This record gives sequence, structure tokens and C-alpha cells, in this order.
Amino acid sequence: MEPIPLNPPAYVRNPKLLQWVKETAELCRPDSIYWCDGSQEEYDRLCGEMVQSGTFIKLSEEKRPNSYLCRSDPSDVARVEDRTFICSRRREDAGPTNNWVAPKEMKATLNKLFDGCMRGRTMYVIPFSMGPLGSHISHIGVEITDSPYVVTNMRIMTRMGSAVMELLGEDAEFVPCLHSVGAPLEPGQQDVPWPCNDTKYIVHFPEERSIVSYGSGYGGNALLGKKCFALRIASSMARDEGWLAEHMLILGVESPEGEKDYVAAAFPSACGKTNFAMMIPPAAMEGWKITTIGDDIAWIKPGKDGRLYAINPEYGFFGVAPGTSVKSNPNAMATLYANCIFTNVALTPDGDVWWEDMTKEAPPSLIDWQGKSWTPDCGRPAAHPNARFTSPASQCPSIDAGWENPDGVPISAFIFGGRRGDTIPLVYQSANWYYGVYLAATMGSEKTAAAAGKIGDVRRDPYAMLPFCGYHMGDYFNHWLQIGRTLSEPPRIFGVNWFRKDENGKFLWPGFGDNMRVLKWIIGRVHGRSAAVESPLGWMPKYESLDWRGLEEFTYDQFVKLMSVDREAWKQELFSHEELLEKLYDKLPKEFAHIRELMLSTLWMSPEHWALAPE
Ligand code: GTP
Ligand code: SPV
Ligand code: MN
Repeated sequence: MEPIPLNPPAYVRNPKLLQWVKETAELCRPDSIYWCDGSQEEYDRLCGEMVQSGTFIKLSEEKRPNSYLCRSDPSDVARVEDRTFICSRRREDAGPTNNWVAPKEMKATLNKLFDGCMRGRTMYVIPFSMGPLGSHISHIGVEITDSPYVVTNMRIMTRMGSAVMELLGEDAEFVPCLHSVGAPLEPGQQDVPWPCNDTKYIVHFPEERSIVSYGSGYGGNALLGKKCFALRIASSMARDEGWLAEHMLILGVESPEGEKDYVAAAFPSACGKTNFAMMIPPAAMEGWKITTIGDDIAWIKPGKDGRLYAINPEYGFFGVAPGTSVKSNPNAMATLYANCIFTNVALTPDGDVWWEDMTKEAPPSLIDWQGKSWTPDCGRPAAHPNARFTSPASQCPSIDAGWENPDGVPISAFIFGGRRGDTIPLVYQSANWYYGVYLAATMGSEKTAAAAGKIGDVRRDPYAMLPFCGYHMGDYFNHWLQIGRTLSEPPRIFGVNWFRKDENGKFLWPGFGDNMRVLKWIIGRVHGRSAAVESPLGWMPKYESLDWRGLEEFTYDQFVKLMSVDREAWKQELFSHEELLEKLYDKLPKEFAHIRELMLSTLWMSPEHWALAPE
């Protein structure tokens, strides 16, 4: 076999990178190699090629300038957690919540799969930076892929191209990320719009700090800077180096007096991070303003002043489309005005996009996410429940002025919340860092469409990181405890639940912009202003300590329902923590057993002790 010419541009000077590209090309046998420069011209050309090949549909230039619709294969629509592996050298370092295979064995499997897997395709080399170029918190990756869909999405989601290659120079570190859709083409074979393979592997080698992904083109399976690098590999780097890589949004809160705070919040996939990060406060809460730093991932480092500083390592949003509307998230809708890629949404007759709940009434006819004609009464959803938009963060009207600050923003509070129809109250504050770590570690949530599998069952999703932690979850809890010990000004820790329901299955809390009322109380707690009462879970607001301006119809009785801590339900809740904690027994912080016991014993106290009755 004659070697495939590498033809690197002159600015590629990193011998380790050149060697890796050469070896990968020899293994994967692509027709050609293409070095991505990240330019607009390159992006437009690749999009044009995908329109030609049938992968992209160009949307109306009037309705949605420079934007495209893509329909995936119906078998490739979400992350595949059961095909995701943490291949540390020792099994106990991956822990019982991750799939594990010995690195040697996994590499043998992957080598077979990758042998010739790019035949008939172009191999793209994508240099990217997670975080602002040159920030001391940022890190560089290089993704090799045979998917032009991945290239165009990576250009929106990361800072990508020749400037990153310059930064890489001759000897800077990078995380190699190898991706293939696993669909080689025989000579003359017609390609399909969404090539993929039924065999899928999403593999991480934490000690080597490298990633290999095979068989899927979708989201976190294929855009390797996101979950694979910025969470799984980065969480492992962060443990080694004393920082945090978290599944968190970051937002700024400005009070009417001009006081500015930043908070980071971890909610599981499809549980409201994008909405919360871009929230518009109720008009009646005059002077309160929310700004957005990020909607999915936070990299957080201790500063010299004893506080934590966070950056958003991403450059765009890969957000859940269904449910996004001018009513639920006006800032997201405004962000989507142009320059976006929409995956698995519906197409309108006039060349625009639509998804469930985008408008009150569905259009009379559409082409659904599978390319079939659709009417409101046909009994199928028009968009896939995990349909997503890829959009530049810079287009978000609420983007924070400091969102690219290389030093990050100081974090005043951490918020944790799952999707829980019962038991968990609207908001409560942990007594201290240790209780907060326990709260986050035992967070539960109902499963959503963001990952393949059965929807709706409650599962423990510690820190919303269960699918994203690159090492033993018990070690992760200890790492959080240890970080707390080193901080002179640790962020305060809160639990929230926007999803509690009444006996008829209706949400008890209006949510969305009204979540500002909860956030205002949280900020007040941080600054010692908001009043609170004791509860078995920590500190809670009384009815009168929330700002009800504009929502006066929300009654005290409704609030009590929303905030109630039911003794029996909480005993069950604490017992059910055991299932996760027992699994992690070998590495569980000793503090956890004590905290659980103390919480159980507090439940036996008279409810009057923590009654919510107004003064
Ligand atoms: P990933 O991108 O998957 O990590 O998730 P995300 O947390 O960014 O998800 P997103 O914000 O897109 O969540 C979307 C879902 O949350 C939709 O079903 C929304 O209707 C729902 N949601 C968001 N905020 C609220 C809220 O305040 N109340 C209620 N009831 N639902 C909400
Ligand atoms: C999530 O599932 O948490 C996401 C989407 O943010 S994906 O990038 O596909 O993992
Ligand atoms: Mn996410």
C-alpha cells in the first residue's frame, strides 16, 4: 500500500501530532487527509458539500440564514451509556459506575474496528481549544474524524482551527481524540446521509489522556471535545491536578443595586441547564438581570484568594430543541436566529424548523425528523425528543461580558437539582460543604431522552456526573471534600427541584423565569440577607422570604405543598441512597455514613421544630 500523503500546512509543527496523524491514516486508510483551518470559507464549503451529498438541508435564507437541518439515522439519536468505557489500567480506578475493559484488550478490539474504517472517505484533522485560547484553565485537543458533520459542529462548539495549531507549537500537550462513523465505502458505493455502525464504542484512556470513538455520529458520542474530553478525561485530569470539571451551567446574577454574583448549577441531561443559564427574570422583579457564561460544562479552579473560578470550556450550545420556545426560553430562541445546525427537528413547508412546543399550535403539515410527512393528528412526534440545535454562544443575547475571561469568574454558590416528581422540595441550603457534597452525591433524577434507554425511572445521578465521571465515583466525592478543605471562601451549596408534581401530575412550580425567585433567595443566603428556617435537609425559605412580586396568586398553601419534607418519604429517600453508596463502599468518604445517620435522626424531630408557618 502506498502511503497517504500527509501534506500538513506549514503551521503544523508538532512532531507528536504529525506522528499520530500518520499512524492513524495508515490504520484507517482514508482516501485523503484534510487539515481544518477553522475559517468561514472552509465551514461554508463543507456545509455545501453536505447539501450536495444529502446529509444537510439548507434552511430558508430569509427565515434562518446560514443554517442547516440534519437527520440522523433513527438508530443513532443519543449518547450510548452502555457502550461508553473508562479504560484505566486498573478496574478499581474506573469504579463500579463505569464500564471497564483492560486498555490492552480494548486497544486490540479497536484496532480491528479501525483497520480500513475510513476507506472511501476524507480524514479530517481538527485542532481545538476547550476554553479561551491561551487561558491557564484551557486545554487543547485534536480530533481526527471521517465525518464532515462533526467538523462543522466542532467549529461551533469549540474554538477550532489554525490559531489552535499555532498555540500547539512544537511541544504543547494535546488530547488525541479519534473518531470514525465506522462506515467505509467500497469503490463506487453510494454513501448514505448519516453513516454510522450498529457496533459502537465510546472509549477513554484516562492515564494516557486519549479518546477513541467508533460507530456513532451523534452529539456527545462524536463531538469529542464535549463529554469525552471536557468531562470524562478532564475530570480525571482535574482530580490529579486539584481542580474540577463539572456538568454545570454557569450564570451571572446582577441585583438592582449592581451587585454581581456567579453561580454554577448541575442538573442532569435534559433537566433545564440551558433554560436556567439564559433565564429572563419576571418583569415585576425589576432590576434583576441574568447573564450567561455556559449551559453545560464548567471547568473550575481554586484561585489564590481562596475562591473558586470557573470558565465555560465550550464555544457554543448543543441544546435540547423540543420544549424550547419564545415563552420558555426567549434567549435561546434569539440565539438560534442564524448560523445554526439543527439535528432531528422537523422541517416546515417554508424551509424553517419546528419542534414540539415551539409554538402553541403545531403547523398543519411538516416533514418530521425521519423525513416523513407529518400532521398534528398523526400520533408521532415531529421532532425526536433528543433533537438538538448547535449554535454559537456569542449569539446569545444574555451572554456575559466576561464569558471569555481567561481567568474565569468567581463562584458564589453551587446548585444541584434533578427531575423529581415527589419528595424533594423546591429549594434548600446545605448546612455546610460536607452536607452539600452529600446532597450532590445522592441526587436522584428521572431518566430523560438524552441517553438511550427507558425514560422516567428515578436513578441516582451524583453531581449529574454519573455518565461523565472518568474515574471512581467514590474518589470523586473525596476529591470534592478535599477541594472544600482548601477553600477559605467555599461557595454555598443548594438543592433545587423545579419538577415536583401534585396528585394530578401537574407541576407545582411554574419554573423557567420564575426560578429567579429561588435564585434571589440563594444569592441572599450567600450574602447573609435571606431569612431561613431549619429543616432536616438544611436551611429553607419561609413563604415570606421569597419575592412574590408578579406571582401573588401563588398561595401559601401551594408553597407549603411545594416545600414539604414528608418524614416517611424522606426516610425512604435516605434508605434508597444506600443502593448507590453501598456500590461505592470501597472508596466512600467516611463522612457520608455519619451525615446519613444525622439526617435520619433529624427526621425524628418534631415537625414543629422546622415548621414553615409564617410568623
Ligand atoms: P443537556 O444539554 O442534555 O445536558 O441538558 P440541559 O440541562 O441543558 O437541558 P435543557 O435545559 O435543554 O432541558 C430541557 C427540558 O427541561 C425541557 O423538557 C424543559 O421543558 C425542561 N425545563 C427546563 N426548565 C424547566 C423548569 O423550570 N420547569 C419545568 N417544569 N421544566 C423545565
Ligand atoms: C447531555 O446529554 O448531557 C448533553 C448532550 O449535553 S450530549 O452532548 O449529546 O451528551
Ligand atoms: Mn449535558
